[in-house]
Amino acid sequence: MGRAFVYVILGGGVAAGYAALEFTKRGVSHGELCIISEEPVAPYERPALSKGFLLPESPARLPSFHTCVGANEERLNPKWYKEHGIELVLGTRVKSADVRRKTLLTATGETISYKILIIATGARALKLEEFGVSGSEAENVCYLRDLADANSLVKVMQSCAGGNAVVIGGGYIGMECTASLVINKINVTMVFPEAHCMARLFTPKIASYYEDYYQSKGVKFIKGTVLSSFEFDSSGKVTAVNLRDGSRLPADMVLVGIGIRPNTSLFEGQLTLEKGGIKVNGKLQTSNNSVYAVGDVAAFPVKLFGETRRLEHVDSARKSAKHAVAAILEPEKTGEFDYLPFFYSRVFAFSWQSFGDNAGEVVHFGDSSGSTFGAYWISKGHLVGSFLEGGTKEEYEAIANATRLQPAVEDLAEVGRQGLNFALTV
Ligand code: FDA
Ligand code: NAD
Repeated sequence: MGRAFVYVILGGGVAAGYAALEFTKRGVSHGELCIISEEPVAPYERPALSKGFLLPESPARLPSFHTCVGANEERLNPKWYKEHGIELVLGTRVKSADVRRKTLLTATGETISYKILIIATGARALKLEEFGVSGSEAENVCYLRDLADANSLVKVMQSCAGGNAVVIGGGYIGMECTASLVINKINVTMVFPEAHCMARLFTPKIASYYEDYYQSKGVKFIKGTVLSSFEFDSSGKVTAVNLRDGSRLPADMVLVGIGIRPNTSLFEGQLTLEKGGIKVNGKLQTSNNSVYAVGDVAAFPVKLFGETRRLEHVDSARKSAKHAVAAILEPEKTGEFDYLPFFYSRVFAFSWQSFGDNAGEVVHFGDSSGSTFGAYWISKGHLVGSFLEGGTKEEYEAIANATRLQPAVEDLAEVGRQGLNFALTV
């Protein structure tokens, strides 16, 4: 049993949806393109799962957040794929790949062959078991990577109104889900090993702004430790969380967000890997020239910093996918991917954006007791990164633009005094 396509996208997440749209904009014939996804639904905007999806009132539900609404493009529902002659092979896991033969074998036993493959397999959530703690299978222990996880989380949340949740991890999932849990009237204790939340990006000063607000909403922080075990009731539900520092937290539910691992396993030994992902060049092409990789799974050269990075954010998934399709369909017209790293989050009424790199020395600006404040990172005498909470569209564009231009900075204190004006006048 088998089918053959010119183009196959392996994975049906954010990058797949944006790649599909780009294929249709640049011209693809009916029957040429296929998307294979383990998930049972057409590509959707994954960021909605920790935000609108978890709201107690009028939560976001498919089809409202299929790609590509997140970038103000049209919404690609299953009907759209049909009308454009794009084959959606959903609910189907690819269990092996042979890049020499250009074939993929699905868990249902079908062989799908391609001329060009785009790997868009994203990443999986790290499990507590990988840190030596068992209990992930308990029905009130939640992770959040896909729609199935989000549906379970909603069910568990609804059964815990007024109860206690322990959130493990102080990164994006931890912060965004804690806000959603609070909005759902659940008492939250966050536990993470670092000295402050969002340690990969925030400075202590930025972190304290958000932590203070979370505390004002009743959230408790336990920092500098990790969990050591769970306690269970006779039905196997978790009833308490034991921490390595000896404390014990009663829990009606647990939410775990302790990072991800890119889904590279199908290609290990076949393609070159780097930084935990599949290494690609500036055209998003892997070490095999019929195979491209995009999104969370791709380690690509960030021209601005002269090094290879793997980014785990929706903007890079969208833009790398579009660039790969351009490079495939119009190779002569398509240059090297020149990407400015962009991160954002929304929690409660807060909204921040960050661009570039958080390396070197940091200068904070604005009034962190007010609603707009930010930071610049300066490395080797140049602006390399920026952060802004509560900005306007124009202000975000200004810090993005300034970060891309990397102007020289001699007097850090002066930049701090100028604050946003520094970016607005670059
Ligand atoms: P993505 O994970 O979207 O898709 C991968 C797809 O491949 C999945 O459908 C998976 O099932 C499929 N797949 C994998 N292996 C397969 C196999 N062997 N066979 C078949 N199918 C397979 N970023 C941001 O910038 N701002 C934000 O606010 C958020 N918010 C956010 C919330 C939540 C809950 C999550 C989990 C993530 C975010 N992100 C984010 C990150 C962002 O969603 C992420 O960077 C993109 O989804 C990456 O897109 P990809 O297409 O690379 O992977
Ligand atoms: P993360 O990398 O943002 O944070 C992981 C956190 O896990 C760390 O901050 C640390 O506090 C914690 N941690 C690590 N080891 C631990 C341990 N043994 N015990 C307890 N805590 C531990 O990852 P995440 O929050 O799980 O997010 C998963 C993915 O989803 C990431 O790729 C992230 O970029 C993406 N995401 C992004 C956004 C956004 O961009 N707004 C929102 C949600 C999710």
